[in-house]
Formats: sequence, structure tokens, C-alpha cells
Amino acid sequence: MDATVDTVIRNASLVDGQRGVDVAIMAGRITAVGPALPLRGAAEIDAGGDLLSAPFVDAHFHMDATLSYGLPRVNGSGTLLEGIALWAELKPQLTQQALIERALQYCDWAVARGLLAIRSHVDVCDDRLLAVEALLEVRRQVAPYLDLQLVAFPQDGLLRSPTALANLQRALAMGVDVVGGIPHFERTMADGADSVRILCELAAERGLMVDMHCDESDDPLSRHIETLAYETQRLGLQGRVAGSHLTSMHSMDNYYVSKLLPLIREAGVAAIANPLINITLQGRHDSYPKRRGMTRVPEMLAAGIEVAFGHDCVLDPWYSLGSGDMLEVAHMGLHVAQMTGQQAMHACYQAVTSNPARILGLSDYGVAPGCHADLVLLDAPDPVTAIRLRAARRMVMRRGKVIASAPRAVSQLHLEGRPAEADFRLRR
Ligand code: FE2
Repeated sequence: MDATVDTVIRNASLVDGQRGVDVAIMAGRITAVGPALPLRGAAEIDAGGDLLSAPFVDAHFHMDATLSYGLPRVNGSGTLLEGIALWAELKPQLTQQALIERALQYCDWAVARGLLAIRSHVDVCDDRLLAVEALLEVRRQVAPYLDLQLVAFPQDGLLRSPTALANLQRALAMGVDVVGGIPHFERTMADGADSVRILCELAAERGLMVDMHCDESDDPLSRHIETLAYETQRLGLQGRVAGSHLTSMHSMDNYYVSKLLPLIREAGVAAIANPLINITLQGRHDSYPKRRGMTRVPEMLAAGIEVAFGHDCVLDPWYSLGSGDMLEVAHMGLHVAQMTGQQAMHACYQAVTSNPARILGLSDYGVAPGCHADLVLLDAPDPVTAIRLRAARRMVMRRGKVIASAPRAVSQLHLEGRPAEADFRLRR
């Protein structure tokens, strides 16, 4: 008799293009992947040829602000500056319970979207560290179904805000995972460079990763990424450091960038672009032509730099839209970066799955024997169609357990002489 396992998912397509693949799961891990596995599952799931993927990963988010849209008022102009002013108005009114409830609701949305790992920055410039305490509690509560990684983020500037460094160190002592920063927001370029050095040394001493908001500016002379790459190499932090946003690179001189990209590559610094937010917040001082403000994603990929796309914001002072859908993020990234070639479109899918999984240091991530049975079954046959349709998540699995499901996106047609349904798939 065939051996029995907990679950077999039949007839799936994989991200690498394999079709008709079965996946066997036992005790929360994938035990076998291949065609027509001679195994019986206590539960059998028919993928029907659809894409079975490792879960989505968001490398850059702000969970302390999410779902606060409209509190205490909406961002009338939709600009970064009004967003910052709004956040300052909201901060004194925050309560721990409200922060926890909003974050948990967002994690519900994330799970429904097959987004099972999030790196969230948390503002440490409030001396009460209310948001830090709240998100540490959320991290504990969601741990069974979602990996939440927290970055100590000195929103008002490490050196510019008098208590930021002490607060950041307190946050790390409380259990926040990653060292954050915001060098372009310090008072001077020199202070910005100093902040990068201080923060990287702090991370090196404590054996932590680094993820800085870096050069989120249209100023082509905002070059803190150069310092971040230098400090990473000097302190032996290769593979543990990410630069988030890096939007100034969009406006930099091409000659300088031709020197910069190999330095970033050599230092093993990863880049995290946030297409939805960069395209809406950057270039606001321009008339026409207006800069896009997203960093140079295809060029960095070509240079061998690890690149991920992050969501950054959902329904908060800076962004009035979003729903935790990393396929929407990939869709925008693809368009803004003009990554329309076949390989480039697949790279956009990797930028919301395997690339951020490596940046976060997730263990046993993937669809292969030995990996965690953390899986998403999409209502699409391949990654490009998944991005095109922002495909429904038919099933989301964590450690072998189904934790979310949704019907296929099909519309009923009531047209004489035409099919009864439209599902937006290309059929020939
Ligand atoms: Fe951000």
C-alpha cells in the first residue's frame, strides 16, 4: 500500500515553470515534490494546474501607522510633508490597545493575501516606546501564522532627535530585531554619514541586521548609500544590511551610479524599493517632466544586487490606499521600472517572494523537500498571470495547515450566445 502523509497537493504549477507537480506534506514540512507522487494524503488538495508558491514576503512596512487612515484627519494634499505632519498629530493620541488592534487586523489581511512574513519599521522617537511595546506584543500573537520582524526606526533622525539613540538602544534591548536609520533626514550630510556609522557599529556589536531608510529624496547628492556600503564592508556586515527606498539614485548622475552599483554589490547590501509609495511621494517638487522617484531596480539586478519590493504603507498618513496585496506592489514595480521583458516580469515576482525572504533571513523558505509547508495556491497558472490579475489566493497554508481560502475570481455572464463565465485567463 502507498505510504500516507498528512497532505498531498496534486497537479500544481511551480514558479520555475514546472507543471503537473505534486507536493507532499508531513508534520508541517514539505517531504516530497514531483510528478504523480505515489503517496496518499490524509487530505488531498487539487491545485487544478494553478500556481503553488512559497508565501509573499514584505521587506518594508510600517505597521505602527497602518489602518490609521482618517485619524485624526485625512491627508488632504496626499504629500509626504502633510503625511509627516499628520503622523506627528496622531502620535500623542496613540494608545497601545488601538495600535495592537489595527496591526492584528492588518495581519488578518496579510494572511488572506498569502503574505506570511513582514519586516516592519517601528518609530522609536516617542519616549514612551508605546508602538515598540505594542508591536512586540503583536509579533508574539501572530507568531504561529506570520513572521513579523521589527526594525528600530528613528523617524525624527538619530542625531536630530535628542532621545532617539537612547530610545533605539532601549528598543533593541526590548527585543526589536533590526537596526534602522534615516540618514538623509539628519541636519547635515556629515550628520547623516555619522548616523550610518553609529548605527552600523551598534549592529556589528550586537550581531544584528541593518535596514535603513536611505536617501528617500529626489536630491541626487543624497549619497548615504555610499556610506552604508562602506560601513557594511568595514565592519564585516556583508549580507546583513539593506538600504530601503534609495530614491535619490533615480536622480543621480549616471557616471556616479556606474561607480556606486559595484560598491553596493561588493558590500553585499540589499536594496528595497517601495514602488507604490515612491511613485506617489517622489517628484513632487517637479513640474514637467516629473521624475518617477523609484530607485534603479533593473540596473541593480543586472549588477547582481539583491532587490525586493516593499509595500511600505497601507491606509496611513502617507498613503490612502492598499490592502496588503504584494501582487499589487509587484504590478506597480513592474510598470514603474518598465520591467516588461519575460525575465524581468518573473524578477518582479521574485522581488515579493524569494528575494525578500533572503533579505529577512527566513529559514527553510521555498517549495522543496525540507522546507516549511508555508504555501500559497494562486488563481493563476504562472507568476506573470498572477501579477496581471492580482490573482485570488485560493488557499494559504502555514506549517501544513490551511489558514485562509478564497473562491476563484470568476464573473457570471448573462449574454446570449456567449460563455456563462469570464475568468480573465487566456485560452487558446
Ligand atoms: Fe518606509
